[in-house]
Amino acid sequence: MTNVQRSDWDQWWRTAVIYQVYPRSFSDSNNDGLGDVRGVINRLDYLQKLGVDAIWMSPHYPSPQADAGYDVADYFDVNPEYGTLEEFDELIAQAHERDIKIIIDIVPNHSSDQMKLFQDALEAGPNSPERDMYMFRFSEGKCPNNWGSLFGGPAWTAVEPLTNNEADRNWWYLHLFAPEQPDFNWENPKVHEFFRSYLRFWLDRGVDGFRVDVAHGLVKEEGLPDDKVGPDRWAVDPDEYTQTEGPFWDQPGVHDIYREWRRVLDEYGRDRVLVAEAWLTPEREALYVREDEMSQQFNFNYLEANWNAERVRAAINDPIKANGVVGAPVTWVMSNHDVVRATTRYGYEPQMDYGRGIGVDDPQPDRELGLARAKGMAVFTMGLPGSMYIYQGEELGLPEVTDLPDESRQDPTWLRTGHQVRGRDGCRVPIPWEADAPHFGFGTGDTWLPQPDYFGEFAADVQDDDPASTLNLYRRVLKLRRELELAKGDVEWVDLGDRSVLAIRNRGVLLVLNMTSRPVTIKDVTSVVASSCDVVIGDGEAVVPANCGAWLR
Ligand code: NOJ
Repeated sequence: MTNVQRSDWDQWWRTAVIYQVYPRSFSDSNNDGLGDVRGVINRLDYLQKLGVDAIWMSPHYPSPQADAGYDVADYFDVNPEYGTLEEFDELIAQAHERDIKIIIDIVPNHSSDQMKLFQDALEAGPNSPERDMYMFRFSEGKCPNNWGSLFGGPAWTAVEPLTNNEADRNWWYLHLFAPEQPDFNWENPKVHEFFRSYLRFWLDRGVDGFRVDVAHGLVKEEGLPDDKVGPDRWAVDPDEYTQTEGPFWDQPGVHDIYREWRRVLDEYGRDRVLVAEAWLTPEREALYVREDEMSQQFNFNYLEANWNAERVRAAINDPIKANGVVGAPVTWVMSNHDVVRATTRYGYEPQMDYGRGIGVDDPQPDRELGLARAKGMAVFTMGLPGSMYIYQGEELGLPEVTDLPDESRQDPTWLRTGHQVRGRDGCRVPIPWEADAPHFGFGTGDTWLPQPDYFGEFAADVQDDDPASTLNLYRRVLKLRRELELAKGDVEWVDLGDRSVLAIRNRGVLLVLNMTSRPVTIKDVTSVVASSCDVVIGDGEAVVPANCGAWLR
């Protein structure tokens, strides 16, 4: 299967390894318990040694943190808790010196309710131009439609209690997420203008691109019709609940926005990227990466496939096929800040439902099994053509914190569902850098989410000197990926007689992932290029243990 048709491999992002920094939890330089920009600068050498091409920073803007920064109060500045604009400039410059690009998070579906534009809209009253920047609607006595917030509860909030203005009786505003995140009105050209100026502001500062939050949600279906799910999304059977259908997802009008943005980016050269966060089918997602729109979209099918061979196969084939039609490369994503960490997901039976997060009273994962599988999957993934994402801590084999004390939880889902849905804090716990330092070297202040004692085992300094560590496995295999130019290759499936043993030939290397629970013997190979565990080789065959990923020749 050919992975690309649009053009050559000359654009860096087509093969890039992109490392997600979740700034709040990455590295704390001023010891206030929160990560910061200087913390990222201090760790650039670490990232360079790991072998990444780019950093994607989750939101770094001033924010009341109702949704860990995805509620932006000022799009043109840096959260004072994280640093200053000057420090951000320094981050860009220092990263570029090391040949590392910087992608930042753009949050265009909604702002913070504390943003001046929204405060002005509240102040200005019904039918004003200020109100037209957001989705205000009039509806007597009840919400304008039945939409539910993704964090729980209705997607509408009444205006009058906020303004104490009688003229606001029966007025509501829309928020697909928390009430503190009002949705912009993308029918309004002023909203377009605002975001064009935002793009230019950061492009002028030297950023290399943008990861577009909720890229499929900006435009809502005309007339805002009811959806099938209803106002309480978390009360619905998870099999019926889907993030991909609904009158607020994937409306045709979103594509005009990305065409407009592409034109802005092209003013800065054709190497600036737009990355879509759009939880859709591969065919629908591919429409976002047409030549005149975005560059990449996250392949979430890969992440959702978990330890299920058929699903992993499909998560490789379907996006390659769909993206091939539009000439875009595929991305490989195992984890991010919104889902249970891969190491933990793979430590459960595939049918385990962890969509609501995991807490102390839930079944706990088999950590050793999960880590072995995550390493196997990582080695296999690093051999695939296209671009790869690594979520901070993934390279340390860091597990989800499944025993986080409930009283420390901060995800709005936990609060908004009346403590029914635990949410995403378990994958956001601050990174352990040094085993023997306070807070494992994250910083000396109490961390915003508590780290468990066992995080010390995963600390970067312990792994640094250990050739058998997960960190050194990532370093070694990423280096080989680059040297062998596997990211520019193709996927040619090889049938080994067992569909639970994945095998792909890419540029003469046989990538194998043994998803069974027993060793498999592979014939006609003479050497091990890389592997996540000990592979025995001899007499022209290799024995690849269960849960192991290997590159053979
Ligand atoms: C997707 C982000 O990844 C997630 O963390 C956030 O809560 C929602 N979008 C809303 O911005």
